[in-house]
Order: sequence, then structure tokens, then C-alpha cells
Amino acid sequence: MSDFSNVDYQRLEDSLCNTSGNVPLAERFRTLFTLKNIATDQAIDIIAKALNDESELLKHELAYCLGQIGNPRANTVLSKVLENLEEPEMVRHEAAEALGAIGSLESIPVLKKHLSDQSRSVVETCELAIDKIDYDNDPKNKAEKDANNSIYNSVDPAPPTTETKSVKELEAILVNPEYKLFKRYRAMFALREIGTTEAVLALAKGLKDQSGLFRHEVAYVFGQLQHPASVPALTECLQDKNEMDMVRHEAAEALGSIATPEVLETLQSFKQDHERVVRESCAVALDMYEYENSGELQYANGLENQPQNMHSLKLGQS
Ligand SMILES: [Fe+2]
Ligand SMILES: [Fe+2]
Repeated sequence: MSDFSNVDYQRLEDSLCNTSGNVPLAERFRTLFTLKNIATDQAIDIIAKALNDESELLKHELAYCLGQIGNPRANTVLSKVLENLEEPEMVRHEAAEALGAIGSLESIPVLKKHLSDQSRSVVETCELAIDKIDYDNDPKNKAEKDANNSIYNSVDPAPPTTETKSVKELEAILVNPEYKLFKRYRAMFALREIGTTEAVLALAKGLKDQSGLFRHEVAYVFGQLQHPASVPALTECLQDKNEMDMVRHEAAEALGSIATPEVLETLQSFKQDHERVVRESCAVALDMYEYENSGELQYANGLENQPQNMHSLKLGQS
């Protein structure tokens, strides 16, 4: 157990909430990463407070982190974000997903209520979150849950399926729109666990799915996998101006975590994109990459130095 008695919460809050008005976005992300690792009630409350910000990118990451921390303390604030139709779709989606990640039965009513939401991504996320909470709370899944020793310690919207280990069979489930999203996501995460070039190419088929939510999740998984075979599909996705910003943003982040020289060049060229969330994703990914490679080390509050990029946020390393 780490000792967080010396944490300077005021400093962290000032940084995350940008009290001075001139804290760079990438630095605020690093602070968020620190708070997520601290994961005390006070850290959760600071993350929740920052949800008043106006950066869609930051807000969706705040919701994501609250979900990954997994403390039901965040249920109320996350429900509020989901319920607020003024919030951007991506942020509301992430709030619903976070409720699923926390997994409390008390969140079922609010998730059910949004099964008829105006946003398709929100509807699908609520559907998934309900299935995940049901799965988590069903005792007959206990053995399967205990046996799941993924190297990715993120809390995922669905556990990898144990139905089959065949890439071909998993791909067939992945791309079949007749199946429930939960089943298709389980195939997606099983392919991530396999992680071979063949599995990556199977996953890339999912980037052509008719559901934007599904496509953005494939991009997210590619960010975790950091496999060079995903670069062409991710680049194509980022370049497609007709693609949803939620998906293009996720592709940019995934490319940022792969960070080969030609990928960095691509990100550089999208720093002026017409969509703010895409511009910010590229800028933050590049900034974090530079920071990590500049030899600067951040020893925040007695925490050991850890990789400080968006990918490590996504991986949920602790
Ligand atoms: Fe998401
Ligand atoms: Fe995202």
C-alpha cells in the first residue's frame, strides 16, 4: 500500500482544474494520471470537480479515470453527466461506460433510462454497461472472472470470451452485427489477448463496422496493443474527415501510443484539424511523447516514476 498522507491535494487540484488559467492540457493529463493512481476519496472528488471544464477531451478522460478507479463514490457525478443532454456525446458515453466499469447494481436504472437516448453511442454504451454489470453480479461467472489474467489491467466494457481461441472464429463473431454488442466486444477483447498480427488484422475489420461506438473501441484496443500492423488502418481512420470525431480522436491517441517516426509525423499534420477534440488529441499525444523522451522525470508526491503518456492512462497502470 502506498502512503498518500503527504499528497499536496491543493497543488493537484490547481493543476487539474487549471486555476491559474495557463496550465497546458498535457500537464493536466499528467496530473489526472497521478490522481488516478492515488485513487483516494479526495482524489476522486478533485477529478469530479474538474468535470466542469470545457475541454471535451479532458472531460471524457476524467470520466474514464473515475470508471477505472472503480469506487462507487463516483456513481452520482457520473450519472449526472450521463443525464445531461448538454454534455458532448463522447463525454456522456464515457460516463455510462464508467458506470459499467464501477459495476454497481444501483446504476442499472439510470443506464436503462438511456436505452432510448437520442445518441446511438450512448444507447449502445448503456446496453453494454448493463450487460457487464449483470455479468459481474452473476455468481456463475466467478470462476471465469478469476481465471482472466489479462496483461492489460484496464477494466474493460466486456471480459475476453473464453468460447474459442481461434482467430477466425473470433473474427466471425466480431464482425457479425446480428450478435449482441456484449458478445462482439468479448470477441474483440479475446483478440486483443491473442495480440498476433493475424489477430490485429482481424480487429482492423471492426474499424469498418456500422457502429461508431464499436469502431472507437477497436481504435482504443489498438492503442493498448501498440502493434505496428494496426498503423495503416488507424491512419486511414484519422484521415477520414467523414468519420465521427470520437473515432478519429481514439485513432489519434492509439497512433500516439505507437509513436514510430512516421506516425508522429501524421499526428503533427493533424494538430490543425477542424475538430477540436482531434486537434487536442494529437497535440496532447505529441506533447506527452516529447515529455517522456526528454529525460525529465516526474516524481509526484512520492509516487514512483511511471510512463506519463495517454497510453498509460488507458492501460490503467497502477
Ligand atoms: Fe470511449
Ligand atoms: Fe477516448
